[in-house]
Amino acid sequence: MVSTPVPALDNSGRQYLPNFDTATPSPNQYLLPLTARNNEHDHLEIGGCDVATLVEQFGSPLYILDEETLRTACRQYRDAFSKYYPGESLVIYASKAWNCLAVCAVVASEGLGLDVVSGGELYTALQAGVPADTIYLHGNNKSVEELALAVSAGCTIVVDNWHELQNLVAIAADSETSETSETAAAQPIRILLRLTPGIECHTHEYIRTGHLDSKFGFDPEQLDEVFAYVSQQPALLCVGLHAHIGSQIFELQAHQDLTGVMVQWLAKATQYGLPISELDIGGGLGIRYTESDDPPSIDEWVKVVCEGIIRACEQQGVALPRLISEPGRSLIGPACVTAYRMGGQKTVPGIRTYVTVDGGMSDNPRPITYQSVYRALVANKLSAPLTESVAIAGKHCESGDIVIKQAQIPATQPGDVLVVMGTGAYNYSMSSNYNRLPRPAAVLVNQGDASLILQRETVEDLTRQDRLPERLIRRDA
Ligand code: LLP
Repeated sequence: MVSTPVPALDNSGRQYLPNFDTATPSPNQYLLPLTARNNEHDHLEIGGCDVATLVEQFGSPLYILDEETLRTACRQYRDAFSKYYPGESLVIYASKAWNCLAVCAVVASEGLGLDVVSGGELYTALQAGVPADTIYLHGNNKSVEELALAVSAGCTIVVDNWHELQNLVAIAADSETSETSETAAAQPIRILLRLTPGIECHTHEYIRTGHLDSKFGFDPEQLDEVFAYVSQQPALLCVGLHAHIGSQIFELQAHQDLTGVMVQWLAKATQYGLPISELDIGGGLGIRYTESDDPPSIDEWVKVVCEGIIRACEQQGVALPRLISEPGRSLIGPACVTAYRMGGQKTVPGIRTYVTVDGGMSDNPRPITYQSVYRALVANKLSAPLTESVAIAGKHCESGDIVIKQAQIPATQPGDVLVVMGTGAYNYSMSSNYNRLPRPAAVLVNQGDASLILQRETVEDLTRQDRLPERLIRRDA
Protein backbone atom coordinates (compact mmCIF):
# COMPACT_ATOMS: atom_id res chain seq x y z
CA MET A 1 0.00 0.00 0.00
CA VAL A 2 1.28 3.46 -0.87
CA SER A 3 1.97 5.71 2.10
CA THR A 4 0.28 9.08 2.22
CA PRO A 5 1.13 12.48 3.69
CA VAL A 6 0.49 12.76 7.42
CA PRO A 7 -3.17 13.70 7.95
CA ALA A 8 -2.84 14.66 11.63
CA LEU A 9 -4.63 17.93 12.26
CA ASP A 10 -3.47 20.75 14.45
CA ASN A 11 -5.70 22.95 16.61
CA SER A 12 -6.63 25.17 13.71
CA GLY A 13 -7.62 22.21 11.58
CA ARG A 14 -4.73 22.57 9.18
CA GLN A 15 -2.45 19.69 8.34
CA TYR A 16 0.98 19.51 9.86
CA LEU A 17 2.40 18.48 6.53
CA PRO A 18 0.30 19.87 3.70
CA ASN A 19 0.40 18.26 0.31
CA PHE A 20 3.21 20.35 -1.05
CA ASP A 21 1.85 23.09 -3.23
CA THR A 22 5.28 23.83 -4.63
CA ALA A 23 7.89 21.72 -6.36
CA THR A 24 10.54 22.94 -3.92
CA PRO A 25 9.04 23.03 -0.45
CA SER A 26 11.26 25.03 1.90
CA PRO A 27 11.83 22.71 4.87
CA ASN A 28 11.78 25.58 7.39
CA GLN A 29 8.10 26.19 6.57
CA TYR A 30 6.99 22.71 7.66
CA LEU A 31 6.56 21.17 11.08
CA LEU A 32 7.63 17.71 9.96
CA PRO A 33 10.55 16.53 7.81
CA LEU A 34 9.75 16.44 4.09
CA THR A 35 9.65 12.63 3.95
CA ALA A 36 7.05 12.28 6.73
CA ARG A 37 4.24 9.91 5.73
CA ASN A 38 1.37 8.03 7.30
CA ASN A 39 2.07 4.37 6.53
CA GLU A 40 -0.22 1.36 6.21
CA HIS A 41 -0.21 0.83 10.01
CA ASP A 42 -1.40 4.40 10.60
CA HIS A 43 2.08 5.08 11.92
CA LEU A 44 4.35 8.01 11.28
CA GLU A 45 7.11 7.16 8.84
CA ILE A 46 10.18 9.36 8.30
CA GLY A 47 12.89 8.66 5.73
CA GLY A 48 11.04 5.45 4.85
CA CYS A 49 11.32 4.17 8.48
CA ASP A 50 8.40 3.50 10.81
CA VAL A 51 9.02 5.71 13.84
CA ALA A 52 7.47 3.25 16.32
CA THR A 53 9.74 0.50 14.96
CA LEU A 54 12.78 2.78 15.25
CA VAL A 55 11.94 3.29 18.92
CA GLU A 56 11.66 -0.47 19.44
CA GLN A 57 15.02 -0.92 17.74
CA PHE A 58 17.03 2.01 19.14
CA GLY A 59 15.18 2.84 22.36
CA SER A 60 13.86 6.18 23.55
CA PRO A 61 14.18 9.09 23.67
CA LEU A 62 15.46 9.02 20.11
CA TYR A 63 16.49 11.86 17.81
CA ILE A 64 15.42 10.91 14.26
CA LEU A 65 17.22 12.98 11.64
CA ASP A 66 15.94 12.91 8.06
CA GLU A 67 18.84 13.08 5.61
CA GLU A 68 16.70 14.17 2.68
CA THR A 69 15.31 17.20 4.51
CA LEU A 70 18.78 18.29 5.63
CA ARG A 71 20.24 17.85 2.14
CA THR A 72 17.27 19.64 0.55
CA ALA A 73 17.77 22.65 2.81
CA CYS A 74 21.52 22.73 2.02
CA ARG A 75 20.80 22.63 -1.72
CA GLN A 76 18.10 25.29 -1.49
CA TYR A 77 20.54 27.71 0.14
CA ARG A 78 23.27 26.92 -2.38
CA ASP A 79 20.95 27.06 -5.42
CA ALA A 80 19.33 30.31 -4.31
CA PHE A 81 22.72 32.03 -3.97
CA SER A 82 23.68 30.83 -7.48
CA LYS A 83 20.35 32.14 -8.77
CA TYR A 84 20.38 35.58 -7.12
CA TYR A 85 24.05 36.44 -6.70
CA PRO A 86 26.36 37.00 -9.66
CA GLY A 87 29.45 37.02 -7.44
CA GLU A 88 31.02 34.16 -5.51
CA SER A 89 29.17 32.81 -2.47
CA LEU A 90 29.62 30.23 0.26
CA VAL A 91 27.08 28.86 2.72
CA ILE A 92 28.60 27.73 5.98
CA TYR A 93 26.52 25.67 8.39
CA ALA A 94 26.44 27.11 11.93
CA SER A 95 27.28 23.82 13.53
CA LYS A 96 26.43 25.00 17.05
CA ALA A 97 22.88 24.00 16.03
CA TRP A 98 24.00 20.33 15.95
CA ASN A 99 27.63 19.34 15.70
CA CYS A 100 28.58 15.68 15.41
CA LEU A 101 30.60 13.68 12.88
CA ALA A 102 27.72 12.55 10.69
CA VAL A 103 26.01 15.96 10.50
CA CYS A 104 29.31 17.67 9.62
CA ALA A 105 29.95 15.03 6.93
CA VAL A 106 26.48 15.34 5.34
CA VAL A 107 26.63 19.12 5.23
CA ALA A 108 30.19 19.19 3.84
CA SER A 109 29.22 16.65 1.17
CA GLU A 110 26.64 19.19 -0.06
CA GLY A 111 29.44 21.69 -0.62
CA LEU A 112 28.77 23.79 2.47
CA GLY A 113 31.50 25.08 4.77
CA LEU A 114 31.26 25.06 8.55
CA ASP A 115 31.04 27.66 11.32
CA VAL A 116 32.53 26.33 14.56
CA VAL A 117 32.68 28.09 17.93
CA SER A 118 35.02 26.00 20.05
CA GLY A 119 37.97 23.65 19.92
CA GLY A 120 35.49 20.79 20.35
CA GLU A 121 33.37 21.75 17.36
CA LEU A 122 36.51 22.37 15.32
CA TYR A 123 38.02 19.01 16.27
CA THR A 124 34.77 17.23 15.31
CA ALA A 125 34.61 19.03 11.95
CA LEU A 126 38.20 18.10 11.12
CA GLN A 127 37.61 14.50 12.20
CA ALA A 128 34.57 14.41 9.91
CA GLY A 129 36.80 15.41 7.00
CA VAL A 130 35.48 18.94 6.51
CA PRO A 131 38.12 20.84 4.45
CA ALA A 132 39.86 23.31 6.79
CA ASP A 133 39.72 26.12 4.26
CA THR A 134 35.91 26.05 4.51
CA ILE A 135 35.89 26.23 8.33
CA TYR A 136 35.39 29.55 10.15
CA LEU A 137 36.15 29.75 13.87
CA HIS A 138 33.87 32.03 15.90
CA GLY A 139 33.65 32.84 19.60
CA ASN A 140 33.93 35.84 21.91
CA ASN A 141 36.61 34.29 24.14
CA LYS A 142 38.62 31.83 22.10
CA SER A 143 41.50 30.33 24.04
CA VAL A 144 45.04 30.54 22.71
CA GLU A 145 44.90 26.75 22.20
CA GLU A 146 41.71 27.02 20.14
CA LEU A 147 43.21 29.80 18.03
CA ALA A 148 46.46 27.89 17.53
CA LEU A 149 44.59 24.73 16.46
CA ALA A 150 42.54 26.68 13.93
CA VAL A 151 45.56 28.57 12.60
CA SER A 152 47.67 25.44 12.18
CA ALA A 153 44.79 23.63 10.45
CA GLY A 154 44.35 26.54 8.01
CA CYS A 155 40.91 27.77 9.08
CA THR A 156 39.66 31.35 8.91
CA ILE A 157 39.31 33.13 12.28
CA VAL A 158 36.35 35.43 12.86
CA VAL A 159 37.98 37.87 15.28
CA ASP A 160 35.68 39.15 17.98
CA ASN A 161 37.74 41.66 20.02
CA TRP A 162 41.05 43.41 20.68
CA HIS A 163 42.37 40.75 23.05
CA GLU A 164 42.00 38.16 20.33
CA LEU A 165 43.70 40.31 17.70
CA GLN A 166 46.67 40.62 20.04
CA ASN A 167 46.67 36.88 20.76
CA LEU A 168 46.74 36.15 17.03
CA VAL A 169 49.64 38.51 16.45
CA ALA A 170 51.48 36.74 19.30
CA ILE A 171 50.69 33.28 17.85
CA ALA A 172 52.06 34.41 14.49
CA ALA A 173 55.21 35.79 16.16
CA ASP A 174 55.67 32.54 18.10
CA SER A 175 55.41 30.43 15.00
CA GLU A 176 57.90 32.71 13.22
CA THR A 177 60.54 32.04 15.87
CA SER A 178 59.73 28.35 16.13
CA GLU A 179 61.79 26.16 13.79
CA THR A 180 59.06 23.58 13.41
CA SER A 181 56.39 25.77 11.90
CA GLU A 182 58.12 27.74 9.19
CA THR A 183 55.28 27.22 6.75
CA ALA A 184 52.65 28.52 9.19
CA ALA A 185 54.79 31.61 9.77
CA ALA A 186 55.21 32.21 6.06
CA GLN A 187 51.46 32.60 5.64
CA PRO A 188 49.51 35.41 7.27
CA ILE A 189 46.52 34.32 9.34
CA ARG A 190 43.26 34.66 7.42
CA ILE A 191 40.74 36.64 9.49
CA LEU A 192 37.33 38.27 9.33
CA LEU A 193 36.39 41.02 11.79
CA ARG A 194 33.10 40.64 13.64
CA LEU A 195 31.18 43.86 14.17
CA THR A 196 28.01 44.64 16.10
CA PRO A 197 25.60 46.21 13.61
CA GLY A 198 23.17 47.79 16.09
CA ILE A 199 20.14 46.23 14.42
CA GLU A 200 17.24 45.19 16.62
CA CYS A 201 15.08 42.27 15.61
CA HIS A 202 12.09 40.58 17.18
CA THR A 203 13.22 37.41 18.80
CA HIS A 204 13.88 36.15 22.32
CA GLU A 205 16.29 38.43 24.20
CA TYR A 206 18.82 35.65 24.80
CA ILE A 207 19.13 34.84 21.10
CA ARG A 208 19.58 38.42 19.92
CA THR A 209 23.14 39.40 19.13
CA GLY A 210 23.07 42.30 16.69
CA HIS A 211 22.07 45.14 19.05
CA LEU A 212 24.84 47.39 20.34
CA ASP A 213 24.68 46.17 23.96
CA SER A 214 26.03 42.74 23.07
CA LYS A 215 29.04 40.77 24.24
CA PHE A 216 29.89 39.90 20.61
CA GLY A 217 32.03 41.78 18.14
CA PHE A 218 33.73 45.15 17.82
CA ASP A 219 31.68 48.27 18.32
CA PRO A 220 31.27 50.01 14.93
CA GLU A 221 32.48 53.21 16.67
CA GLN A 222 35.90 51.58 16.77
CA LEU A 223 35.95 50.72 13.11
CA ASP A 224 38.68 53.19 12.13
CA GLU A 225 40.89 52.17 15.00
CA VAL A 226 40.51 48.46 14.25
CA PHE A 227 41.09 48.88 10.50
CA ALA A 228 44.16 51.04 11.16
CA TYR A 229 45.61 48.45 13.56
CA VAL A 230 44.92 45.46 11.31
CA SER A 231 46.34 47.18 8.25
CA GLN A 232 49.65 47.51 10.13
CA GLN A 233 49.90 43.77 10.94
CA PRO A 234 51.66 41.77 8.25
CA ALA A 235 50.87 38.58 10.18
CA LEU A 236 47.13 39.10 9.67
CA LEU A 237 45.33 38.89 6.36
CA CYS A 238 41.99 40.60 6.95
CA VAL A 239 39.80 39.31 4.12
CA GLY A 240 36.36 40.22 5.36
CA LEU A 241 33.76 41.42 7.81
CA HIS A 242 31.13 39.54 9.75
CA ALA A 243 27.88 40.32 11.54
CA HIS A 244 25.05 38.21 12.95
CA ILE A 245 21.86 39.86 14.17
CA GLY A 246 20.09 37.02 15.93
CA SER A 247 18.22 33.78 15.54
CA GLN A 248 14.67 32.57 14.76
CA ILE A 249 13.94 35.75 12.79
CA PHE A 250 10.86 35.98 10.55
CA GLU A 251 11.13 39.56 9.31
CA LEU A 252 13.19 40.02 6.17
CA GLN A 253 13.68 43.72 6.88
CA ALA A 254 16.35 43.15 9.54
CA HIS A 255 18.63 41.25 7.18
CA GLN A 256 17.97 43.72 4.39
CA ASP A 257 19.05 46.55 6.71
CA LEU A 258 22.14 44.55 7.64
CA THR A 259 23.30 44.32 4.03
CA GLY A 260 23.34 48.12 3.73
CA VAL A 261 25.27 48.56 6.99
CA MET A 262 27.85 45.94 6.04
CA VAL A 263 28.53 47.36 2.60
CA GLN A 264 29.16 50.76 4.24
CA TRP A 265 31.79 49.12 6.44
CA LEU A 266 33.25 47.43 3.37
CA ALA A 267 33.62 50.78 1.60
CA LYS A 268 35.41 52.17 4.65
CA ALA A 269 37.82 49.22 4.80
CA THR A 270 39.03 49.89 1.29
CA GLN A 271 40.23 53.34 2.49
CA TYR A 272 42.70 51.52 4.73
CA GLY A 273 44.00 49.40 1.88
CA LEU A 274 42.65 46.24 3.47
CA PRO A 275 42.12 43.40 0.98
CA ILE A 276 38.54 42.92 2.11
CA SER A 277 36.59 40.78 -0.32
CA GLU A 278 34.21 38.79 1.90
CA LEU A 279 31.06 39.76 3.75
CA ASP A 280 29.59 37.21 6.13
CA ILE A 281 26.02 38.14 7.00
CA GLY A 282 25.53 35.47 9.69
CA GLY A 283 22.45 33.27 10.02
CA GLY A 284 19.09 33.75 11.64
CA LEU A 285 16.28 32.58 9.35
CA GLY A 286 13.51 31.18 11.51
CA ILE A 287 11.59 27.93 11.26
CA ARG A 288 8.03 26.82 11.86
CA TYR A 289 7.56 25.35 15.33
CA THR A 290 3.80 25.85 15.49
CA GLU A 291 1.04 26.33 12.94
CA SER A 292 1.01 30.09 13.64
CA ASP A 293 4.71 30.52 12.75
CA ASP A 294 5.11 31.80 9.23
CA PRO A 295 8.79 32.17 8.31
CA PRO A 296 9.90 33.23 4.84
CA SER A 297 11.29 30.45 2.65
CA ILE A 298 15.02 29.87 2.22
CA ASP A 299 14.71 31.19 -1.34
CA GLU A 300 12.97 34.40 -0.21
CA TRP A 301 15.58 35.03 2.50
CA VAL A 302 18.52 34.52 0.14
CA LYS A 303 16.89 36.73 -2.51
CA VAL A 304 16.48 39.64 -0.11
CA VAL A 305 20.05 39.32 1.15
CA CYS A 306 21.55 39.13 -2.35
CA GLU A 307 19.48 42.01 -3.71
CA GLY A 308 20.41 44.11 -0.67
CA ILE A 309 24.13 43.50 -1.14
CA ILE A 310 24.00 44.11 -4.90
CA ARG A 311 22.05 47.36 -4.46
CA ALA A 312 24.30 48.65 -1.68
CA CYS A 313 27.46 47.82 -3.65
CA GLU A 314 26.13 49.75 -6.63
CA GLN A 315 25.33 52.74 -4.41
CA GLN A 316 28.73 52.68 -2.71
CA GLY A 317 30.62 51.95 -5.91
CA VAL A 318 32.37 48.88 -4.53
CA ALA A 319 32.91 45.50 -6.17
CA LEU A 320 30.63 42.62 -5.16
CA PRO A 321 32.18 40.76 -2.23
CA ARG A 322 32.34 37.00 -1.82
CA LEU A 323 29.09 36.54 0.08
CA ILE A 324 28.99 34.18 3.04
CA SER A 325 25.98 33.18 5.13
CA GLU A 326 25.80 31.04 8.25
CA PRO A 327 22.43 29.36 8.67
CA GLY A 328 22.05 26.83 11.47
CA ARG A 329 18.46 26.37 12.63
CA SER A 330 16.86 26.59 9.17
CA LEU A 331 19.17 23.85 7.85
CA ILE A 332 18.82 21.25 10.57
CA GLY A 333 15.83 22.25 12.74
CA PRO A 334 13.00 20.88 10.58
CA ALA A 335 14.95 17.73 9.64
CA CYS A 336 14.62 16.09 13.06
CA VAL A 337 11.96 14.89 15.47
CA THR A 338 12.38 13.49 18.96
CA ALA A 339 10.50 10.29 19.76
CA TYR A 340 9.63 9.47 23.39
CA ARG A 341 7.79 6.62 25.05
CA MET A 342 4.79 7.87 26.97
CA GLY A 343 4.48 7.03 30.65
CA GLY A 344 1.79 7.58 33.26
CA GLN A 345 -0.71 10.40 33.50
CA LYS A 346 -1.86 12.64 36.32
CA THR A 347 -5.12 14.56 36.22
CA VAL A 348 -5.57 17.60 38.45
CA PRO A 349 -9.39 17.90 38.36
CA GLY A 350 -10.60 21.05 36.69
CA ILE A 351 -7.04 22.16 35.92
CA ARG A 352 -5.12 19.88 33.59
CA THR A 353 -3.84 16.42 32.77
CA TYR A 354 -0.11 15.78 32.72
CA VAL A 355 1.09 13.04 30.38
CA THR A 356 4.70 12.04 30.98
CA VAL A 357 7.47 11.13 28.55
CA ASP A 358 10.82 9.45 29.20
CA GLY A 359 12.94 12.55 28.50
CA GLY A 360 12.49 16.29 28.80
CA MET A 361 14.70 19.25 29.60
CA SER A 362 17.93 17.23 29.32
CA ASP A 363 17.30 16.34 25.66
CA ASN A 364 15.35 19.56 24.85
CA PRO A 365 16.23 22.48 27.12
CA ARG A 366 14.58 25.06 24.86
CA PRO A 367 11.08 25.17 26.48
CA ILE A 368 12.50 25.81 29.96
CA THR A 369 15.21 28.17 28.69
CA TYR A 370 13.34 30.27 26.14
CA GLN A 371 9.68 29.29 26.74
CA SER A 372 9.82 27.71 23.29
CA VAL A 373 6.62 26.13 22.05
CA TYR A 374 6.61 22.80 20.22
CA ARG A 375 3.97 20.60 18.63
CA ALA A 376 3.64 16.85 19.00
CA LEU A 377 1.76 13.89 17.59
CA VAL A 378 1.40 10.27 18.56
CA ALA A 379 3.40 8.26 16.04
CA ASN A 380 1.49 5.01 16.46
CA LYS A 381 -2.01 6.59 16.38
CA LEU A 382 -1.67 9.04 13.59
CA SER A 383 -5.28 9.37 12.46
CA ALA A 384 -6.93 8.92 15.84
CA PRO A 385 -9.12 11.94 16.75
CA LEU A 386 -7.34 14.55 18.87
CA THR A 387 -9.67 14.37 21.82
CA GLU A 388 -7.28 15.23 24.67
CA SER A 389 -5.79 18.57 25.62
CA VAL A 390 -2.87 17.77 27.91
CA ALA A 391 0.49 18.99 29.17
CA ILE A 392 3.45 16.84 28.10
CA ALA A 393 5.66 16.57 31.17
CA GLY A 394 9.32 15.63 31.15
CA LYS A 395 10.73 13.22 33.71
CA HIS A 396 13.12 15.61 35.45
CA CYS A 397 12.85 16.66 39.06
CA GLU A 398 11.90 20.19 38.19
CA SER A 399 8.36 21.58 37.96
CA GLY A 400 9.28 23.64 34.91
CA ASP A 401 10.28 20.55 32.95
CA ILE A 402 7.24 20.67 30.69
CA VAL A 403 7.97 19.80 27.06
CA ILE A 404 4.64 21.19 25.80
CA LYS A 405 2.21 23.13 27.98
CA GLN A 406 -0.81 22.43 25.81
CA ALA A 407 -0.83 19.56 23.35
CA GLN A 408 -3.77 18.19 21.41
CA ILE A 409 -3.36 14.44 21.23
CA PRO A 410 -5.57 11.35 20.92
CA ALA A 411 -6.37 9.14 23.92
CA THR A 412 -3.10 7.39 24.73
CA GLN A 413 -1.70 4.78 27.02
CA PRO A 414 1.74 4.13 28.50
CA GLY A 415 4.09 2.82 25.83
CA ASP A 416 2.67 4.93 22.99
CA VAL A 417 5.26 6.91 21.03
CA LEU A 418 5.06 10.68 21.24
CA VAL A 419 6.93 12.64 18.57
CA VAL A 420 7.95 16.25 19.14
CA MET A 421 8.58 18.06 15.86
CA GLY A 422 11.27 20.49 14.77
CA THR A 423 13.90 19.41 17.29
CA GLY A 424 16.99 19.36 15.06
CA ALA A 425 18.38 22.73 16.10
CA TYR A 426 19.85 23.40 19.53
CA ASN A 427 18.37 20.29 21.16
CA TYR A 428 21.14 17.68 21.03
CA SER A 429 23.75 20.45 21.05
CA MET A 430 22.34 21.94 24.27
CA SER A 431 21.47 18.61 25.87
CA SER A 432 22.76 17.74 29.32
CA ASN A 433 22.95 14.92 31.81
CA TYR A 434 20.70 16.70 34.31
CA ASN A 435 19.46 14.21 36.89
CA ARG A 436 22.13 11.88 35.45
CA LEU A 437 20.04 10.94 32.46
CA PRO A 438 22.13 9.44 29.67
CA ARG A 439 21.89 11.46 26.43
CA PRO A 440 19.62 9.89 23.76
CA ALA A 441 20.74 8.09 20.63
CA ALA A 442 20.32 9.65 17.19
CA VAL A 443 19.62 7.90 13.89
CA LEU A 444 20.00 9.25 10.38
CA VAL A 445 17.16 7.93 8.25
CA ASN A 446 17.09 7.74 4.47
CA GLN A 447 14.97 5.61 2.12
CA GLY A 448 14.21 2.96 4.69
CA ASP A 449 17.71 2.82 6.13
CA ALA A 450 18.41 3.94 9.71
CA SER A 451 22.05 4.51 10.65
CA LEU A 452 23.09 5.17 14.22
CA ILE A 453 24.96 8.50 14.33
CA LEU A 454 25.02 9.03 18.09
CA GLN A 455 25.13 6.06 20.35
CA ARG A 456 22.90 6.24 23.42
CA GLU A 457 24.90 7.07 26.52
CA THR A 458 25.06 4.39 29.18
CA VAL A 459 25.29 4.63 32.94
CA GLU A 460 28.97 3.72 32.57
CA ASP A 461 29.40 6.81 30.40
CA LEU A 462 27.92 8.85 33.21
CA THR A 463 30.61 7.83 35.70
CA ARG A 464 33.47 7.68 33.17
CA GLN A 465 34.98 10.99 34.26
CA ASP A 466 34.16 10.56 37.96
CA ARG A 467 37.09 9.98 40.30
CA LEU A 468 36.66 8.62 43.80
CA PRO A 469 39.46 9.80 46.13
CA GLU A 470 41.12 6.89 47.88
CA ARG A 471 39.97 8.07 51.30
CA LEU A 472 36.30 7.88 50.22
CA ILE A 473 36.40 4.27 49.07
CA ARG A 474 34.33 2.18 51.49
CA ARG A 475 36.35 -0.75 52.65
CA ASP A 476 33.35 -2.39 54.32
CA ALA A 477 31.23 -2.37 51.19
N1 LLP B 1 26.27 32.78 13.16
C1 LLP B 1 26.50 33.19 14.41
C2 LLP B 1 27.64 34.06 14.68
C3 LLP B 1 25.65 32.80 15.44
O1 LLP B 1 25.87 33.25 16.68
C4 LLP B 1 24.55 31.95 15.16
C5 LLP B 1 23.67 31.50 16.23
C6 LLP B 1 24.36 31.53 13.84
C7 LLP B 1 25.24 31.97 12.86
C8 LLP B 1 23.24 30.62 13.43
O2 LLP B 1 21.99 31.20 13.63
P1 LLP B 1 20.68 30.41 13.16
O3 LLP B 1 20.67 30.34 11.66
O4 LLP B 1 20.70 29.06 13.78
O5 LLP B 1 19.56 31.24 13.68
N2 LLP B 1 20.33 28.30 21.44
C9 LLP B 1 19.41 29.24 20.84
C10 LLP B 1 19.97 29.81 19.57
C11 LLP B 1 21.29 30.50 19.76
C12 LLP B 1 21.83 31.01 18.47
C13 LLP B 1 23.25 31.33 18.62
N3 LLP B 1 23.86 31.83 17.44
C14 LLP B 1 18.09 28.52 20.58
O6 LLP B 1 17.95 27.35 20.93
O7 LLP B 1 17.15 29.12 20.05
